Amino acid sequence: VARVESVEAASGPHGAVPELSARARRAGAAYAGPGSGPAPAAGRAGALPTIAFTAGLPDAALLPAAALTGAAGAVLAEAANSALQYGGAQGWPGLREWLAGHSRDSAQVALSPEHFSLTNGSAGALANVCETFLDTGDVAGVESLSFPLSVRTIRSITPRIESIPVDAGGLDVDALEARLGELAARGDRMRLLYVIPTFHNPTGSTLTLERRRRLVELCSDYDVLIVEDDAYGELWFREEPPPSLYALAGGVGVVKIGTFSKIVAPGLRVGWCQADPATTAALVATRCDMGTSPLLMHVLDRLGREGFLDGHIARVRGVYADKCDVASRALAVHCGAWCRWEAPEGGFFIWVEAGERVDPAALAAAALDEAVSFVGGHVFAAEQAMLEGPRLSWVPGNSRSFRLAFSSVPSDEIEEGIRRLGHALKRAVGTG
Ligand SMILES: Cc1ncc(COP(=O)(O)O)c(C=O)c1O
Repeated sequence: VARVESVEAASGPHGAVPELSARARRAGAAYAGPGSGPAPAAGRAGALPTIAFTAGLPDAALLPAAALTGAAGAVLAEAANSALQYGGAQGWPGLREWLAGHSRDSAQVALSPEHFSLTNGSAGALANVCETFLDTGDVAGVESLSFPLSVRTIRSITPRIESIPVDAGGLDVDALEARLGELAARGDRMRLLYVIPTFHNPTGSTLTLERRRRLVELCSDYDVLIVEDDAYGELWFREEPPPSLYALAGGVGVVKIGTFSKIVAPGLRVGWCQADPATTAALVATRCDMGTSPLLMHVLDRLGREGFLDGHIARVRGVYADKCDVASRALAVHCGAWCRWEAPEGGFFIWVEAGERVDPAALAAAALDEAVSFVGGHVFAAEQAMLEGPRLSWVPGNSRSFRLAFSSVPSDEIEEGIRRLGHALKRAVGTG
């Protein structure tokens, strides 16, 4: 289970932490993230290993270690100087060119290497966008359910965050319009809106085409920069999702952020910003980190040009589609009496809403006992991520909604994990 700790708690045995900056304090609870905490607790006094639907990670069996090893060897043999020297803040042009050719958006808008800058994952991309286009005291908009690390990133720059409601069709654009109108009436404005329109984390929802069009129009009318987080956009199951906000806006007024984390491996920490060349130049000019790893960019570029990446992405899509089917069928069989959900059309997540008879605290206790884990919906509530001080509990103890990440659970454990969830739900309504 991912942990959340206070920044102040980082003092360790060697003394107190120096006085924190206002920005560090504003960032609030530190999200350690998957990979940094202990393994999930074992249930039933350690008798059963827990089946953890917690982390939004790729399936470990799909991490392309052999292909990466081969490409790294070839890059170091053939292009060591370019791969091992500094590479500049915008990143290796070869990989930016591959991205321009690969992007679905290129069917609607012209894309060149000058539309891309390479970053430390999409997390680094969002930080770069916020540093470049947001000031302390500005209003930024986020979806009421969102990826908490992104909300923290925005919050570290400005505490004035407006949370816009979401439903099964994605962000509620009527609510957005009302909020933009209210701000304008006060002589204020929203400067930036962060959205995850496609295979949303945590809800799995996809913003409808009609809402996409309206959102783009509204943000253009009210001069709001759209930050479109497309971390899962390539992972569609049966049909391509609607055109991106970037494409619908003709590439103007939108920074789209992407990542290799979900389609290749999060440990690479390679992501990107896609924006018009002038905006890209501004993003690059703000960078003070000397760029990110040229070696990894060369490796990905090579895998892209060899055709490996396209094949790999097609393959992982199929695996996640199958996993989602297994999870949805198991939910219908084992959990249908106690909760509702909508099967997503891509990505890693199923958002489940338990009925009113389910007691959340009892569900948390029963899930621990049944050796199944998931992340309580409160963790993704933007209001929670905006709270100062300690600190979120990731235990699903106080919300009736929760996120099931099926992506990293081995295929042959999904059904059993959801069967355990069904038992936990049954016990949480007191009929078990
Ligand atoms: C919506 C969303 N954006 C961004 C990220 C961060 O990804 P990256 O590894 O590219 O920094 C995640 C990771 O879970 C995510 O779910």
